[in-house]
Amino acid sequence: MNLITRTGIVATLLAISAATLAEVKASDAVEYRQGIYKAVKWNFGPMGDMVKGKQEFNAAEFTRRADNLAALSKMPLEGFVAGTYNGSYSGSTDALPAIEKDWETFAGIMSDFETNAAALAETAASGDMNAIRPAFMSVAKTCKSCHDKFKD
Ligand code: HEC
Repeated sequence: MNLITRTGIVATLLAISAATLAEVKASDAVEYRQGIYKAVKWNFGPMGDMVKGKQEFNAAEFTRRADNLAALSKMPLEGFVAGTYNGSYSGSTDALPAIEKDWETFAGIMSDFETNAAALAETAASGDMNAIRPAFMSVAKTCKSCHDKFKD
């Protein structure tokens, strides 16, 4: 085998491993962000039940969940990377390609999510449901405005 052939084989192997690596990273990113949203729902659900009176209001639990949500709100953005959108990604995702096309709007709503979740955590500490309810609704509106535009 001459040197040129050998270099060609090595280059091909490197290209294959790079492609495999990229694939693993895409699925990691999708699983990461979906996992964060599952944790968001886990915390946001009982908070909603307390706001709606379906579950008895427990200030300590509400505050703990609001703190969790504020931390979680900072996490999903980094999971939205190229090649992981509905249409271009081979696995299952509800993330629409509009995210990539209109990144500024998407990142802007994500930033509102962070701001509103931080405000809710702050309000939760007061234990006053009259202040908590509108703060909760602001966060809920942020979920909906993003899902309407960017989620299948
Ligand atoms: C800035 C955009 C944005 C915001 C804000 C947002 N989401 Fe989402 N959410 C998405 C996208 C995009 C997906 C799809 C992710 C995927 O499938 O790859 C998603 C997926 C989800 C899922 C499904 C996770 C799974 O795969 O099982 C749940 C549940 C969810 N979001 C709940 C919420 C709740 C509750 C809020 C607000 C408290 C919220 N989201 C805020 C964009 C957003």
